[in-house]
Order: sequence, then structure tokens, then C-alpha cells
Amino acid sequence: MSVLTVEHLKTYYPVIGNRDGDVVKAVNNLSFDLKENQTLGIVGESGCGKSTLAKTLMGLESKTDGKIFFGEKDSDNISAKERYQYIQMVFQDPLDSLNPRKKAWEIITDPLMINKKVSKNECIKKAAELMELVGLRSEGLHKYPHMFSGGQRQRLGIARALVLNPKVLILDEPVSALDVSIQAQILNLLKDLQRKMKLSYIFISHDLSVVNYIADETLVMYLGRVCEYGPSELIFGKPFHPYTKTLLKSAHISNSEEIKNFPKLLDTELPSPLNPPSGCFFHTRCPVAKEECSNFAPMLEEKKERQVSCFLE
Ligand SMILES: Nc1ncnc2c1ncn2[C@@H]1O[C@H](COP(=O)(O)OP(=O)(O)OP(=O)(O)O)[C@@H](O)[C@H]1O
Ligand SMILES: [Mg+2]
Repeated sequence: MSVLTVEHLKTYYPVIGNRDGDVVKAVNNLSFDLKENQTLGIVGESGCGKSTLAKTLMGLESKTDGKIFFGEKDSDNISAKERYQYIQMVFQDPLDSLNPRKKAWEIITDPLMINKKVSKNECIKKAAELMELVGLRSEGLHKYPHMFSGGQRQRLGIARALVLNPKVLILDEPVSALDVSIQAQILNLLKDLQRKMKLSYIFISHDLSVVNYIADETLVMYLGRVCEYGPSELIFGKPFHPYTKTLLKSAHISNSEEIKNFPKLLDTELPSPLNPPSGCFFHTRCPVAKEECSNFAPMLEEKKERQVSCFLE
């Protein structure tokens, strides 16, 4: 069952002071489908639109075009309150995203206040349950964020995201700010919570090995578009798109000789989403581009059991 369906989503930012109506096409025609109890990993270079996608799903940025369905419900017809009960977000840097002047119990139960007035006692009780769920001791209820370690703060962020009992969590680089040993603990906590609560995750990361570990499906993004999208074992094990291959090659996580020997990205600048290249967006950096790639944009189509936008066969 699909818990989140995204169809031809576009999120454009206006360019301040620009009179020609130019826009930054941060998310530029993105479609995917998230199933119950599954994790979709989203990878791609800095600036490819991952956080913009996350913010659009949360309703923090408005979409320019396209559709978002939460289960059967069209996002155009739901209130902010309904949206937050369905989907919640965990941010990269817990210290940045947690109010430093609030105690742990207040932080965790803050989202409850969008519903109704909840008594302090009820809040403390709920916060204690959630702290236990995410592996924090309840002594911490009355502490402030700076009194927790980085990993513990991220657990607080997860507890807060769970307080409304959502179906979907968006995790935007949730472990990137943490030490490697702590990363593993948080990833395992997320896996545990997913199993217990039938959660679905959108897991955004630039760290391919983390995504390979946690994601059932992976979507590779480039300049706001999908390059390749399908089961993680195929994307990491038998990548099709030249961009996916160059990402895997530079991350040194593939044992495949084909990936190790694959040519590097062409040494040209990453184009701007303000003015993306003609044809295939990737052709200016693609080491195996053909002539047609600069003139025609490939459609996203099914090839070898995944979705790909590339003319190669
Ligand atoms: N509020 C904004 N106004 C205008 N442009 C923006 C805004 N936020 C992001 N952008 C631009 O949109 C594009 C996508 O940015 P986004 O933050 O979504 O990328 P990202 O994939 O999350 O990058 P990173 O890996 O660095 O977090 C970039 O070109 C960025 O400069
Ligand atoms: Mg980002």
C-alpha cells in the first residue's frame, strides 16, 4: 500500500530582484511512490533539491506544480494539522532544530499543541513514554538540549517527530552531523522503530553507504529530477545510469570492476538549477554522453526493473 505518492512535483524559487521571471527549478518534475513500512533513500549532490523536496512534502515550501497524495488524500485538500499528523520531519542538526530554551519534555510534546490544549502532566507522561521508546532515560525530561550529547539530541528529535503518531518520517541527513559509531546506533534505532510502528521513511543523505544500509528503494536525483529510481540492491549492485555509476565510483563502495573502471565525471561545473542544460540535464558532465543527449531530454522509463532517464540501452 502506498502511503505517499508524488506525481510530477515541481518546486521553483523566485529569484530575488530578477525581473525576467527566472526561477530556480529546485525540484523539477519528480515522481515516486513510498510504500507502507518501507524506506526510500534519496541521494544526489549538494543543491540537487533534496531538502526542497522534504520541505515541500512538509508544506514548508509551496509546490509550483504536481500532486502529492498522503495515502488517498490529495495534499491540496488537507489542513496543516492533518498533514502534520501524517508526516513529520527529523532534521540534520538537532542542536539547530531544538529550541534551546525548552526542556526535553516540552520539545517532544510541542507538536501536540497544534491539536488541543494538553495538560502539563499529560505532556510529561507522553514525553516519558517517547523517551523510553527512543532509548533515552526519563531523568532527561527536565533537561535542556545542550545538556544532551549529539546522538541523544537526535533521539529527542525523533521522539518529537513521533509524538503525533505519524505514518511517514522525512529524515533529512539525520546522521550526517554524528560520529560514525553514533550513526550506527541511530540507524538501528530507526530500523527498530520502523518495525514496531510500521513507519515509512524518506531518508535523505549524501552518504551512499548509509543509504545502501537503510533504504529498500533508492532515488538518485540530479538538478531536481530523477536519474534512476528502484530497489536499492539494483541501484547499488547493478546501477544503470551513468550518474549513479559515477556517484558509486567516487564513494568507493562498489566492488564491481565495471564501477571501478567507469570513467570519472567530466571536469565541468555542476550546472545551476536556474539555467539547466538543454537535452539530458546530465549531459554536460556525463562521461558517456552521445550527440542526441544534448538535444533531447530522455523520459523516465522502466529499464532493467527500475526507472531510468537515459538514452543508453
Ligand atoms: N529559499 C530558497 N530560495 C531560493 N533558492 C533556494 C532556496 N532554498 C534552496 N534554494 C536553491 O535550490 C536548489 C536546491 O537546494 P536544496 O537545499 O533543496 O538542495 P539539497 O539537495 O538539499 O542540498 P544539500 O545536499 O547541500 O543539503 C539550490 O540551487 C539552492 O541554492
Ligand atoms: Mg539539504
